[in-house]
Amino acid sequence: MKIHETIAGLRTGLKSAGRVVLVPTMGNLHDGHISLMRQAHEHGDTVLVSIFVNRLQFRPGEDFEKYPRTFDADCERLIAAGVDVLFFPAESEMYPTPQRYFIEPPAELINILEGEFRPGHFRGVATVVQKLFNITQPQVAVFGKKDYQQMLVLSNMARELALPIEIVATDTVRATDGLALSSRNGFLSPTERVEAPRLHRLLKATRYAILAGERDYSRLESQAMVELRAHGWIPDYIAVREKTGLKLPTAHDSGLVILGAALLGSTRLIDNLEV
Ligand code: PAJ
Repeated sequence: MKIHETIAGLRTGLKSAGRVVLVPTMGNLHDGHISLMRQAHEHGDTVLVSIFVNRLQFRPGEDFEKYPRTFDADCERLIAAGVDVLFFPAESEMYPTPQRYFIEPPAELINILEGEFRPGHFRGVATVVQKLFNITQPQVAVFGKKDYQQMLVLSNMARELALPIEIVATDTVRATDGLALSSRNGFLSPTERVEAPRLHRLLKATRYAILAGERDYSRLESQAMVELRAHGWIPDYIAVREKTGLKLPTAHDSGLVILGAALLGSTRLIDNLEV
């Protein structure tokens, strides 16, 4: 695996790379990330992974400083996954001067759900991903549905800005007890780790109720939130939404997704389930 820390070096290194598939990450890689890399191999000649903890998408008081940075272990996993190239820029390489130009996703997509609780988050995500696209010029980019709203923000961005990049969305990888794999799971205490799969169980129960014919979505949402609170969680939202634009469902919706975010102790977990 070739490792590049500079934009210039990476660009030279990619000269005869053929069809490049980019998998952007913030590192601390787990099996969820690795499944993206496996998918990536099916879409091109060179699998390029980036590891960059992007300050722009964290707000003051969020976990930017304590976000786990595990470069050596990540490299081992990437090599085992057959990744061809790693882009690992320092902050001074990505943001040599303060970033003043931004990608501003549409308000209706970013003022809701994650965006409501993390103002500015998706602007930071979209900006860094657009910048990574410009640096690496991939033909394909792979994102996980684990971050469903992020995946939508980015695939809409690619479409509306006519980027010559195919966006591939992959399914969420879970632990055997259902907990969606996440770098933040490492912050959970042993007892919290036992409690954590409840979020996924409640999303499943909500899906089951919808499939059984329940259409009072706000009742289902509050039921799930009450259940979380009863077990010590502080939920931000449980929401049944249209899959394509995350709007409130209308009577004839075919595709729905149930999204949830909640604090367990000091760790914020998110998950979602398509119906
Ligand atoms: P990060 O949280 O490191 O995630 C990198 C990619 O892995 C994202 O596309 C995410 O959706 C996917 N992913 C995370 N957990 C997953 C799981 N359990 N199953 C499947 N895929 C999973 O998301 C980011 O980084 C950043 O916001 C980034 C896009 C890199 C921009 O900074």
